Amino acid sequence: MVKKAIILCGGTGSRMFPVTKAVNKQLLPVFDKPMFYYPLFLLMLSGIKEFIFIINEGQKENFLSALGNFNDLGIKVKFVVQSKPRGLPDAFIISERLIKNESVAMILGDNFFYGNMLSPIIKNSLKKQKGCNIYLYPSNNTSAYGVVEFDKKNKIKRIVEKPKKTNSNLIITGLYVFDKNVSKHAKKLKPSKRGEIEMVDLINIYKKLNKLNIIKLGRG
Ligand code: TTP
Repeated sequence: MVKKAIILCGGTGSRMFPVTKAVNKQLLPVFDKPMFYYPLFLLMLSGIKEFIFIINEGQKENFLSALGNFNDLGIKVKFVVQSKPRGLPDAFIISERLIKNESVAMILGDNFFYGNMLSPIIKNSLKKQKGCNIYLYPSNNTSAYGVVEFDKKNKIKRIVEKPKKTNSNLIITGLYVFDKNVSKHAKKLKPSKRGEIEMVDLINIYKKLNKLNIIKLGRG
């Protein structure tokens, strides 16, 4: 059973400038709650009790205030400051000592997952976790995401980042689970053209090792 999760609450938030110059995007309200409550609650409902927050410098007090008395919720919270946004897999490098050779889930602090029976599906996938899990969702906007393509036998053929053309509509969502080797693999990644290390490259390492599992999240 996966017991820990990383919530990614760093980043630049440049698409929401100037409000995100002063506060992390994930602290901004969506309806009556800070944005990061939604991914946090989803993973709490899926049985996770230990959380590692990746945050920007100077934001810890803000997150602590937003969380309130989280001990009452029965969860443990730790913070790791990311000095600059080096890419999503950097989370596994900078929090290696907290992952402590155990498998770990990761969710983006600005992602919303909503749907019928979602937490039981995720909870179930955390029970028998081996290698890497990615969670796929059908979308018409494939050119904005990582997309998984399948061969005729319905086996994973390849993963393409923001394809202009593809025969698949299954995109990779911002929830992942990795085995205890994730920090070791993340350290091998080289920055892409945009200067960040990329999730697709990390996922491809697991694909090559034949340790990539997909969980399809249906419509609704
Ligand atoms: P992105 O969408 O890649 O980046 P961003 O949200 O900072 O935005 P923008 O493109 O508008 O500048 O990030 C997805 C999530 O991951 C978001 O919650 C920020 C977080 N993140 C980190 O915590 N560390 C990182 O190094 C990166 C790249 C993102």
